[in-house]
Amino acid sequence: MAYNLLKGKRGIIFGALDENSIAWKTAEQVHAEGGSFVLTNAPIAMRMGQINELANKTNSEIIPADATNLEDLENLISKSMEILGGKLDFVLHSIGMSVNVRKGKAYTDQNYSFTHKGWDVSAGSFHKVMQVIYQKDAMNEWGSIVALTYMAAQRVFPDYNDMADNKAYLESIARSFGYFFGRDKNVRVNTISQSPTPTTAGQGVKGFDGFIAYAEKMSPLGNATALDCANYTVAMFSDLTKRVTLQNLYNDGGFSNMGVSNEVMETFMK
Ligand SMILES: NC(=O)c1ccc[n+]([C@@H]2O[C@H](COP(=O)([O-])OP(=O)(O)OC[C@H]3O[C@@H](n4cnc5c(N)ncnc54)[C@H](O)[C@@H]3O)[C@@H](O)[C@H]2O)c1
Repeated sequence: MAYNLLKGKRGIIFGALDENSIAWKTAEQVHAEGGSFVLTNAPIAMRMGQINELANKTNSEIIPADATNLEDLENLISKSMEILGGKLDFVLHSIGMSVNVRKGKAYTDQNYSFTHKGWDVSAGSFHKVMQVIYQKDAMNEWGSIVALTYMAAQRVFPDYNDMADNKAYLESIARSFGYFFGRDKNVRVNTISQSPTPTTAGQGVKGFDGFIAYAEKMSPLGNATALDCANYTVAMFSDLTKRVTLQNLYNDGGFSNMGVSNEVMETFMK
């Protein structure tokens, strides 16, 4: 059901790779709520066939940009305002990648050039995106910026590897930059901490199947899906959440406040 929550609002959505991506679902939901946007992804990661399909479905244009590259970001922000016909009301940062995870390097045996690259893609890029937007004064007042994160920033999940540290950094950037965006431009900045979700990035984590099944059993409402995350993001982009800022918001079926559930206990009582 659509409520026209984003009617007349304009933005940029980073990170739609395929139909499982959280950003893909978000693009569909934002479109259904009346928002218009530019889609962007890293030129090397972009699967043109698939992202074209999303662009057609949502009447949007695609501008390739590596989110670690300032020139790409400057071009993206300027062109997006031209295409959309004005400043932005919302931005979704839905980007994450660990080279150590991809190459099977353990947390205790990192290759630090991989660590640095993963940090730049997963956390540093959020600062870069916001700095370019801030300096170009590209957000409308009462706009909303959201990045996606995971609870490994607060608690230990061994196989999440260096992504845990990247997410802690990402969440800190949201608070630090959110202060300046709030004070100077009346723009809010938040992170949404999402349940494990079967996407390309999610499934790259070792032992993901066990991970997602455990979270499902621990959460009183079960795991939040990519669609649930998309809907929460729509709410955060809408005018109904105008003074929510500097927050890390859990969209996880209650997992983050659980100690143990009856269902998980049962597996130890046999
Ligand atoms: N899937 C999960 O379990 C889960 C849980 C919590 C949070 N998240 C977060 O959600 C976000 C989206 O991930 P997803 O699960 O939808 O997976 P996904 O693989 O569909 O999306 C990750 C995106 O990052 C993009 N990307 C990588 N390097 C880039 C670069 N240099 N510049 C621009 N884009 C780049 C990829 O092309 C891809 O589109 C990530 O921040 C992820 O950490 C995912």
